[in-house]
Amino acid sequence: MIAADSKFRFFWNILISLVSIGAVLVLPLSLVYPILSPAMAVLSGLFLSMLFAIDLVLEFFTSYVRIGQVVTDRKEIASRYLRHGFVLDLISALPWFLMVSLLFESGSSAFSLIGLVHLLKLVKANRLVKTLVEERINPAILRLMLLVFWIIIAAHLISCAWIIVSGNPDQLAPVDRYVLAMYWTVTTITTIGYGDITPKGTTQILFVIMVEIFGAAMYGLVIGNIAGLIANIDVAKTQYKEKLEKINAFFKYRAIPAEIKRKIDNYYAYLWETRRGYNEMAILDDLPNALKESVALCLNKEIIEKVPLFNSAEPPLIRDIIINLKPAVFTPGDYVVRAGEYGDEVFFISRGSVDVMSPDETAKYATLTSGAFFGEMALLLSTARTATIKAVEYCDLYVLDKATFDKVIGRYPAFQESIRKMAEERRKQNEAAARK
Ligand code: CMP
Repeated sequence: MIAADSKFRFFWNILISLVSIGAVLVLPLSLVYPILSPAMAVLSGLFLSMLFAIDLVLEFFTSYVRIGQVVTDRKEIASRYLRHGFVLDLISALPWFLMVSLLFESGSSAFSLIGLVHLLKLVKANRLVKTLVEERINPAILRLMLLVFWIIIAAHLISCAWIIVSGNPDQLAPVDRYVLAMYWTVTTITTIGYGDITPKGTTQILFVIMVEIFGAAMYGLVIGNIAGLIANIDVAKTQYKEKLEKINAFFKYRAIPAEIKRKIDNYYAYLWETRRGYNEMAILDDLPNALKESVALCLNKEIIEKVPLFNSAEPPLIRDIIINLKPAVFTPGDYVVRAGEYGDEVFFISRGSVDVMSPDETAKYATLTSGAFFGEMALLLSTARTATIKAVEYCDLYVLDKATFDKVIGRYPAFQESIRKMAEERRKQNEAAARK
């Protein structure tokens, strides 16, 4: 059994994709110019058939992933493959050149045309390329790239067909003839249509009508797709911009003063800068509990590493705290805590700094930075806030509610002891400052 994500499969997929793309470029050209002798055509046809046949067999031995689970059961793999992709793979793997060379004279147009059946493999190559680069490229950009790729392939096929239909009236060299045909194709399918090259005779007119219909449809599709894709390249940014526009329209309607508006603008700019505008809590709330815990552990890992208090804490304690932490942002000058108020939250600083000030704000007790915590005194002593805390700069804080705090300190006496010590030290320090 070959694993779908094995190295071998990876390189095999690249090989199949490259060969299919090479075939789609060379085979149509071989219809126009004698770049492949009949013997070479049969040989390259056989080579393609052989490669595609091996690919077909390998598919039966390649496991696949279904909703995160690797499926290795032969029957399931076969039934899935028979339903998806087998028929196309089979058709493109049959030795068409050989079969036709037995029926027709080699070099006849039927002989060359039939080779194009191998091009069906391109549908699979398209899928393979998608899976190969899926996780490495933004999906919207990938779709755009594949769209451009298919347009180039279509233009190549149409150019070759146009050369067959219209011949080479000006006796141009092969390269010049091809470039001229490509020029005609592009002007036609992009609906520019200069009209400097016009069809002569019914066959050419019918062909041009077909290309024009195809071109018009494709042009509409491409323009629609590109508009959608560009908007989707950065969904987060587009949604965020829309949200800001709505908010700004509202502020304008309610005549919010410019000063406040500027503060709000800066706040949103900070949110974008630090978390791409996502609301972590909303994302977490959408997840089932078990997953929520793992994601919260990842998201809040940084704060756990930063806060020295957590360094020696036991893992269950950290888990209890981490899944209950809620992020909060404060802008410069904001009051986080006001002395004398009753509070029921403890704060941990992830980024930024805050000033701890006396209730009348005349004395500064301390400046706390990343990794520090505050708000524990009112909770431990069941009193009002003992100091006022103001954000000095943009601050990313994590907030822990009283219920969780009480539960945690009740369960982990050592943790309670270190917090108590810290609160006691702070109290003494403030008393000393007050006496000065
Ligand atoms: P609390 O009284 O709940 O609210 C204000 C907080 O400021 C207080 O808890 C402490 O966490 C913090 N605090 C008070 N004094 C100091 C200090 N001297 N140094 C650092 N933090 C302090």
